[in-house]
Amino acid sequence: MSVVMADRRGCADEGADLRAHWGTQVLGARVYCYEQLDSTNLRALELARRGAPEGTVVIARHQTAGRGRLGRRWIDRPGGSLLLTVLVRAPDEAPALVTVAAALAAAEAVREGVGLPALVKWPNDVVVNDRKVAGVLAEGPAGGMIAVGVGMNVRGESSELPAEVRDTAGYLSQEAKRELGPDDLLPVLMPRLEYNFLALQHPGASRELLDRVRALDYLANKRVTVRVADRQISGRALQWADNGALVIIDEAGCRHELQAGEVTVVGSEA
Ligand code: BTN
Repeated sequence: MSVVMADRRGCADEGADLRAHWGTQVLGARVYCYEQLDSTNLRALELARRGAPEGTVVIARHQTAGRGRLGRRWIDRPGGSLLLTVLVRAPDEAPALVTVAAALAAAEAVREGVGLPALVKWPNDVVVNDRKVAGVLAEGPAGGMIAVGVGMNVRGESSELPAEVRDTAGYLSQEAKRELGPDDLLPVLMPRLEYNFLALQHPGASRELLDRVRALDYLANKRVTVRVADRQISGRALQWADNGALVIIDEAGCRHELQAGEVTVVGSEA
């Protein structure tokens, strides 16, 4: 285990044996901590291209060019967000499940570590009390690795968020009504990420992972509109398919399996 302090300021856990602290075997093979970075995903991809091993972790206190899904920006509150990327080997089957595995781990960490009723909103969001508190962005492959980035809003107020997400995003400390910091979540999240990523390497084990995500499905049975490229589908969300796709029954009764898209909930009656 080697901890590489990437700049002089470093993270709170400087010099500590992070794998022992996190209870992980693979995640934390190398750990790069930054006070500020453009994007942990970009840094992790660069490291992967240079041969960084599986389990390499990049953590930042603040990102100046955080990346979100669909080309969006991910804006954080300096010191208030958990921002990290891990390098995992691309699974042979259903690569989309890497995102599912990470979003599920984040939701489980919020449930078990903070006690909030976190759910997973297909394909990559963690939602608490109808507010998005975390997102996942998987990019790559590079050097045989996928860079799986997790951003979690831990300490702050939704009023501090950019106007476009103020009504839909939230912070864990605000939802939990108590003081929390990014470091509180790290040791809870890491072993769950590892458990879920290792599950993807075993044929059949991803079924158990999908069962767990279906049990925490935010969209199940809700009326939704999904924007996919240049078209829009409205209907009822059914569940996650075995390959991680979202199943929708549209108003004409046709079944759609969506691999990607932007989902908006338009109602939640059964
Ligand atoms: C989304 O909800 O659109 C995904 C957001 C993912 C944000 C995280 S923060 C850590 C990692 N580095 C990035 O640049 N993005 C991801």
